[in-house]
Amino acid sequence: MVQSERRLKRGRQGEFVSKHVVARVEDIGPGERRVVTVRNRPIVIFNLDGEFFGLLNRCPHQAASLSQGIQAGFAIAEVPGTERCIRRGEFIRCPWHGWEYDIRTGQSWCDPESILVRRFKVERVPGSELVKGPFVAETVEVSTDEEYIYVEA
Ligand code: FES
Repeated sequence: MVQSERRLKRGRQGEFVSKHVVARVEDIGPGERRVVTVRNRPIVIFNLDGEFFGLLNRCPHQAASLSQGIQAGFAIAEVPGTERCIRRGEFIRCPWHGWEYDIRTGQSWCDPESILVRRFKVERVPGSELVKGPFVAETVEVSTDEEYIYVEA
């Protein structure tokens, strides 16, 4: 299910992007993820407690599918024996060699300055806005009672 906005605008890197409706909000529950293809790009959408984030589904190291990885948190301790996990589920660990990426930013932990996964803007929008525009229904029946997730790509 992909619905696309006809108008194009410039993205973060100056390229033309458009908005593509990829799922209903209820299709990707908290803690879940889903791979969608937008403009021939595989993008994995993550739901972190109701916030949606999109990363290119390709590890910058050797191109493994990040959607096959494990979501993990960040362990901290003020003193020995007081370890606790924060930001639980907000990092994706590559299934091949274990490099980890922050789902919110795409940054790696091994080399945050230079290694990152391409991030896509993902937002939720009520169906009533889709009906009014600027989106155009192509193959999807849009209900004004539901919320949808769109990706800018
Ligand atoms: S392919 Fe992802 S860490 Fe190697």
